[in-house]
Amino acid sequence: MRILFIGDIIGRPGRELLRKGLQPLVEHFGVEFVIANVENSAAGFGVTKDIGDAIVELGVDVMTSGNHIWDKKEAIEYIPTEPRLLRPANYPAGVPGRGSYVAQSGDGRPVGVINVMGRVFMLNIDDPFQVVLREIEAMRARARIIVVDFHAEATSEKIAMGWHLDGKVTLVVGTHTHVQTADERILPNGTAYLTDAGMTGPHDSIIGMEKEPALARFLNGMPSRFEPATGNPRLNGVIIDADDKTGRAIAIRRVSFSEQELMGLAAGAARDLHARTPVSALSEPAGRVEG
Ligand SMILES: [Fe+2]
Ligand SMILES: [Fe+2]
Repeated sequence: MRILFIGDIIGRPGRELLRKGLQPLVEHFGVEFVIANVENSAAGFGVTKDIGDAIVELGVDVMTSGNHIWDKKEAIEYIPTEPRLLRPANYPAGVPGRGSYVAQSGDGRPVGVINVMGRVFMLNIDDPFQVVLREIEAMRARARIIVVDFHAEATSEKIAMGWHLDGKVTLVVGTHTHVQTADERILPNGTAYLTDAGMTGPHDSIIGMEKEPALARFLNGMPSRFEPATGNPRLNGVIIDADDKTGRAIAIRRVSFSEQELMGLAAGAARDLHARTPVSALSEPAGRVEG
């Protein structure tokens, strides 16, 4: 099973890039299941039903989130109606929505997805390390392949989660910092790991937002209104191959593409519809993909 995980989608620029680029990316790599973090998809803050529906329509199988999940108030009504939209599982009991979901690929193979959130420099909610084990146990009988989105600020907490879950899940991928890290690897017991998937949105920005107001907050300490930036949108994420029988990861590759590069993939796919990047190529050092 080849799975694509997409880093935080930022507002309209991120959604537009997803609309144009997801299909070429899926076709080029032969992706069979898509997960995306949508916590910033509505103007940089939260998600709405219309936007969630549109993202699913584009081919995203499961949506994860994080600390921005409640920024748009309608999420409180929306999330109980949409099992494919997750919020961190370690919010206290009684919070609307769910933190895990077992979905199916197009050909009916189950994929479990769990969303948890870190506590270092973040909200002091329930222990993600305990909660994630409980969630894994609850879905173990239904899914061998399990992906964990660990939405966290601190690199140390994310790496700790990787080792905590090595051999228990297929992929531990971090989100929230909006900056892709270069530490993708497969841990000794078969769990693929990446500290942060990065963001799908404008990279000429301060983590997705217009530079001037974000910089002003550092310069003068006064409140300023943040809007998503527009310049240099890139789609960030990670692709893994998983063994269907064992749930172990076989290969991992980071991806970071501009619109132009995604369109190049589309042209490449059109030349040979059945061409798929071989599994071995996924393990090569990350870099630009040849069409
Ligand atoms: Fe985010
Ligand atoms: Fe976040």
